[in-house]
Amino acid sequence: MDTNKRPDTMARIQTKEQADEFIKIQVEEVRKQVGDKKVLLALSGGVDSSVVAALLIKAIGKQLVCVHVNHGLMRKGESENVIEVFKNQLDANLIYIDATDRFLSKLEGVYEPEKKRKIIGNEFIVVFDEEARKLDDIDFLAQGTIYPDILESDGVKAHHNVGGLPEEMKFELVEPVKLLYKDEVRVVGKALGLPEEMVDRQPFPGPGLGVRCLGAITRDRLHALREADAILREEFDKCGLAKKVWQYFIAVPDFKSVGVKDDKRYEGWPAIIRAVNTKDAMTATIEEIPYDILHKITNRITNEVEGINRVLLDLTPKPVGTIEWE
Ligand code: XMP
Repeated sequence: MDTNKRPDTMARIQTKEQADEFIKIQVEEVRKQVGDKKVLLALSGGVDSSVVAALLIKAIGKQLVCVHVNHGLMRKGESENVIEVFKNQLDANLIYIDATDRFLSKLEGVYEPEKKRKIIGNEFIVVFDEEARKLDDIDFLAQGTIYPDILESDGVKAHHNVGGLPEEMKFELVEPVKLLYKDEVRVVGKALGLPEEMVDRQPFPGPGLGVRCLGAITRDRLHALREADAILREEFDKCGLAKKVWQYFIAVPDFKSVGVKDDKRYEGWPAIIRAVNTKDAMTATIEEIPYDILHKITNRITNEVEGINRVLLDLTPKPVGTIEWE
């Protein structure tokens, strides 16, 4: 039997009861596969790896070793949230690595989008590999592979996702949600007791804010982007758009314009709002954000974020524009 093929008879998991049943079966399967050995998991904080972590904690507890690599390109509060949920609430065996300086120094002066992606992906593997080598007797590697990943590639997570396996690391894979679609992963996550904001989150690219801090990344512009993005998310949460819009974020280009603040010349970067709806990310339409909300966001970002002096709205559907700017 091809274990990478979803059986035609497999019902779509939609209810808590169905999720509980799935969890029960997977817990048994994982225990059978792993025995008393240890399992390593790269926990990014995204939906898939978080659900796999919660499932494995339930199945094998402290035999799971989660590694969270903060590449310095996370959104505001994300790494803190991973630590809070997994270490403090679920009592996971979690290794936290702040690799911000390593990533940002490798990225210094690099302005080509694909080069930036490559550096981020490679450095992630190097950091993860270094950590894995420090640990003894790990036999298994868990991955948050989901069914679309199998359909789109050949079993490994899609090309541009960080967390790809170092070739020479010979682990057996544990992939408990590999036959599930995204909506099913979310239902399972909720049934496992993960917080809604973790399970219902919008997609976030592996290279993170790295592809939204356009051109060569600098720490001050990255900081401004992170703060502006946090304001956008906060305001979308408050007005209900967060639940409605598929993906929304800020991009900050690497040029400045002239402005005026406190009666003085104030040169700053523009913050570009992008809010799109899509089914499969191949095409996308624009969410029509009400003007009063746009004014509020503009007001807050220009007043609260050091270095930003204008807010712009991207009205371009995909095609012609891709969802991300880089
Ligand atoms: P584009 O920009 O190609 O984005 O219209 C489509 C979807 O893919 C996400 N995206 C990425 N995800 N690594 C990822 O894991 C990447 O390098 C990457 N680039 C784009 C993007 O956020 C959108 O959801």
